[in-house]
Amino acid sequence: MTTVADEKVLVFDFGSQYARLIARRIREQQVYCEIVRHDLPAERVLRLGAKGLILSGGPASVYEERAPKCDPAIFGLGIPVLGICYGMQSACEVLGGRVASAPAREYGRAFCRVVDQDELFLDVPEQIQVWMSHGDQVTSVCQDFLALAQTETCPYAAVRHRTLPVYGLQFHPEVTHTPWGTRILGNFLKTVCHCAGTWKLGDFAQQTIDQVRQRVGEGRVICGLSGGVDSSVVAALLWQAIGPQLSCILVDNGLLRKGEAASVIEEFTNHFKTDLHVVRAEEKFLAALAGLTSPQEKRRRIGHAFVECFSQEAARIQGARFLAQGTLYPDVIESGGLPDGPAATIKLHHNVGGLPEELDFELIEPLRDLFKDEVRRLGAELGLPEEIIWRHPFPGPGLAVRCVGEVTRERLETLREADAIVVEEIKAADLYRKTSQAFAVLLPVQSVGVMGDARTYADVVAVRSIDSEDFMTADWSHLPYSVLARISTRIINEVKGVNRVVYDISSKPPATIEWE
Ligand code: XMP
Repeated sequence: MTTVADEKVLVFDFGSQYARLIARRIREQQVYCEIVRHDLPAERVLRLGAKGLILSGGPASVYEERAPKCDPAIFGLGIPVLGICYGMQSACEVLGGRVASAPAREYGRAFCRVVDQDELFLDVPEQIQVWMSHGDQVTSVCQDFLALAQTETCPYAAVRHRTLPVYGLQFHPEVTHTPWGTRILGNFLKTVCHCAGTWKLGDFAQQTIDQVRQRVGEGRVICGLSGGVDSSVVAALLWQAIGPQLSCILVDNGLLRKGEAASVIEEFTNHFKTDLHVVRAEEKFLAALAGLTSPQEKRRRIGHAFVECFSQEAARIQGARFLAQGTLYPDVIESGGLPDGPAATIKLHHNVGGLPEELDFELIEPLRDLFKDEVRRLGAELGLPEEIIWRHPFPGPGLAVRCVGEVTRERLETLREADAIVVEEIKAADLYRKTSQAFAVLLPVQSVGVMGDARTYADVVAVRSIDSEDFMTADWSHLPYSVLARISTRIINEVKGVNRVVYDISSKPPATIEWE
């Protein structure tokens, strides 16, 4: 069996979004890869045992004084290197080429003529469409480089070094607008780096299960369940690894969506027969939130109450030494939590560091190396139902941050009913998997209406539905009017105390996905 370490490709991060997309594309070709900091020393690269190195694009110009640079010694290791956009410019500059501001900045589609159909462009047509996004370009290369492809304005759209295994692409093969990009990346991985491409999630699951068994021995592991896909996959994986040594805790804070606690309980007691501890804590959370309207204060009190409930329950579980968490790869990169990982911390993610260190458990994070889509596939392999695998993300503070203003039992009930209708109708229109997050928000506003002959003065519900790749940016979903109409009619007819529904058409940025 190929192990993760046998076939590893490293993606050097010169500007995070590009690096992540490249990493996903590589893994889609069943080659394991990791994102590393752009200046990872050559000797560390050797020790990591990489079969190929990819230098990502990035927003800087190589000739700027503080431009990020890689260790030049990586080019002498004999490991194939592929520079993409900024990565190519950086590689060419180190190896004797010249980079300057392009006469015409190129953003968007370009047509590229392939002049060498070996290796990188094996089985790729002579004329291809590519996606360019650059202000600079390599203007001249020393005699050591060959041009492999060109566009009208870019004489070195792709290059290869004559003696070193170093390649460069000025365009972005990782984006869908470069239709042959997957093949080109695949050629680099398979033809140039000789990767077999046998990395499978199934193997990953088995290796992880073995590792967990070894590490845990006879010990007991606690896993917090939230109803979301990440914690459910962790619990399912651990159940396969250690079965009866796993105890799960679900804190029912009264802020969950309709039917959510019940479906988690069903799944983790009837299907996976885990030792599930449900902490019924609605009263405690409502008391902690009474009279509050500040979003930050709501979050703080909820966090505090959660830690209290969780640790009290955990203390009742005899002999627990380990705590399992559903931390994902993007969380790890974004929080700067890897010794070799990217230098810049983009955003401290909500999910990292959820429980305080004083809880004194050893952490088990079996999903640390996976992207969200991989976690979903893993969940399917482990036998989790579609309903859990595809559930839209839900914030830790739950409905409290969607109940703008004061959080009361009655307002939560109104919101829960309206939210269930939004989700039901989006599912009925077969749009649940196409949208990334859809929900209702209860506003602290009342408006005038007429129902029958009477005037009403009742609540306003906002409907929010967004499409997003990574939740760092998002566009509002262009839902069909017919779906919006059904949602609105049903909420107004079925949810007592609501007489108006509005649709949120703000993108992120500048708006956030949640309202609070
Ligand atoms: P925003 O509102 O920042 O949300 O655009 C981005 C993503 O993060 C989720 N979110 C949270 N998740 N605790 C969480 O676990 C939180 O406090 C929290 N706030 C926002 C949000 O639902 C979206 O998916």
